[in-house]
Amino acid sequence: MCGIVGYIGKKEAWPILIKGLERLEYRGYDSAGIALLDKGVFSVFKKKGKVVELSKFIKDKDDDELSGGVGIAHTRWATHGEPSDRNAHPHLSNGGDIVIVHNGIIENYLSIKKVLISKGYKFVSDTDTEVLANLIEDIKKHEKVSIDEAVRLALTEVVGAYAILVLSKDEPGVMVIAKMGSPAVIGVGKGEFFIASDATPIIEHTKKVIYLEDGEIAVINKNTKNGKLVLKIKTIQNKIIKNPYVHKLKTKIEELEKSGFPHFMLKEIFEQPESLRNTMRGRIVYDKGNVKFGGLEKFAKDLKNLNRLTIVGMGTARFTGLIGEYAFEELAGIPTKVEYGSEFTYRDVASPLHTGLIAVSQSGETADTLNAIKKAKKEKMLTLGIVNVIGSSIAREVDAGIYNHVGPETAVASTKSSTSQLLLLIMFAIYLGRMRDLSKSKSQEILKEIQKLPSLVEIILKNAEAIKKLAKKYKDHNDFFLLGRKYNTGTAMEGALKMKECSYIHSEGCNSAELKHGPISLIDKNFPSLVIAPVDSMYEKSKSSIQEIKARGGLVTALTTEGNKELENIADDVIYIPKTLEILTPILAFIPMQLLAYYIAVERGNDVDKPRNLAKSVTVE
Ligand code: M6R
Repeated sequence: MCGIVGYIGKKEAWPILIKGLERLEYRGYDSAGIALLDKGVFSVFKKKGKVVELSKFIKDKDDDELSGGVGIAHTRWATHGEPSDRNAHPHLSNGGDIVIVHNGIIENYLSIKKVLISKGYKFVSDTDTEVLANLIEDIKKHEKVSIDEAVRLALTEVVGAYAILVLSKDEPGVMVIAKMGSPAVIGVGKGEFFIASDATPIIEHTKKVIYLEDGEIAVINKNTKNGKLVLKIKTIQNKIIKNPYVHKLKTKIEELEKSGFPHFMLKEIFEQPESLRNTMRGRIVYDKGNVKFGGLEKFAKDLKNLNRLTIVGMGTARFTGLIGEYAFEELAGIPTKVEYGSEFTYRDVASPLHTGLIAVSQSGETADTLNAIKKAKKEKMLTLGIVNVIGSSIAREVDAGIYNHVGPETAVASTKSSTSQLLLLIMFAIYLGRMRDLSKSKSQEILKEIQKLPSLVEIILKNAEAIKKLAKKYKDHNDFFLLGRKYNTGTAMEGALKMKECSYIHSEGCNSAELKHGPISLIDKNFPSLVIAPVDSMYEKSKSSIQEIKARGGLVTALTTEGNKELENIADDVIYIPKTLEILTPILAFIPMQLLAYYIAVERGNDVDKPRNLAKSVTVE
């Protein structure tokens, strides 16, 4: 996820900024850059790759170019355009008056860009951020206003999420900071200010910080009488915020990197309300009962002609595909099958004509999935990707794709990327469905519930303590069954994978109907089960599975819908998820299973973020 750093004061800015970027490296990024302002002249340096490359590049520059006590810097995690020097931040406006760094996504950047192009603006990058730089410059020039007012007016036109730092060469002693959705923290030093995406780059300079709120704009300016720096905060509606609250930091840097969570995995589990919001951001067109994906627009005709789908992926990505399979058949009426990327590559493809291949991959680097795409291309299939890492090999290889926009996932175990994959598969099924027979009202019904998901996930996360207790109860078991039906067959398989890789407990993910065709012989008092039994079309069947296990002396945890007390009399333990549509239940059901695997892993003293023998990205066959 992008990181922003800013400094304004009497010291040389660049070493502080570089150090700040290093502190933000844990957020994940693919390029870095820095802009310094001295005597009305900008020096901008940016590089694809690590901060250390940028740092080496800068150290070779003349002192003149590096001097100055005002600067902004950025680590970019690509969202619009591949990782490259050209797309790296900071971005200058056309006239060279404005420089900006940005963390977030400007949803309506294309329509603003169109207007700016008609006014003669040229763009050198693919980013939404450069659009904002030019919009601010355009407003400043035409309205003849100060930089902070130009930023404020520009932001009234912007839809999306942002934390931005802006400098203008006409007003060298001024820095503007604005926030909506993405984080921005201001460190208050003695005669100097430090700004960053979180407090990690700030804490070594000052413990006093102000957390900017959504819709707020901070302006740091020199007092004309005594030359001292002054901070003022207002809202986009131009309301002054008097006496902003100054927090006193007590936390250590390592704790800050994980936002206070003991592990990245737990942090990423708790990020899911936000990551789901980011996944759906700007993509739901409720009035039309539809979904839009910028990356698919050029392929609308091919997508309409598809009469089969094959989903490929490995591990968690394949399990989300197993759930997506039901959605494509139910909502779009397209026969769909799910295949290991590794196996698709080596088998004969029947009827490739008008068959689309959907490759699901968080990293975009999984060799097995990448090879499957290459094979599909040889067969002249339309290849599509659901990928988190922008500019990754899979993102570049497919004909068209959809990005998750959940930011980097650091823990080896997939969590926030998997719920995002599920959401995108369902939204993509709606998109294809609306090209076929899916009615507007049915689609609207699903979209309405999709929009509620982030708050439903928050409810589940508030009950994490109950799952922690359960983890203590089951931590010493050597085996575990995870069982589900229909949509939640894939959920059970993903639950078992989480349990294996994090807790190192032998786990089987299984369709609960399949249980009595063999696996039930494993059940005894030492082989517990978790049965996913939401109140839906499969509820009665799932209840029977629970009874069958109980009858054989097995311990059962039931995962069911909030309000359904019946299972408390049958199962040993019950976990609740809020009510939602049947098709959306896996998105909610994934979360208690992630938490259970996480807490058991902690109880057993495992290396949660880097489980033994595993790598985050598997780039070999
Ligand atoms: O990067 P990908 O999504 O392509 O990775 C595929 C699998 O290696 C991955 O989903 C793996 O199973 C998970 N990290 C397990 O939590």
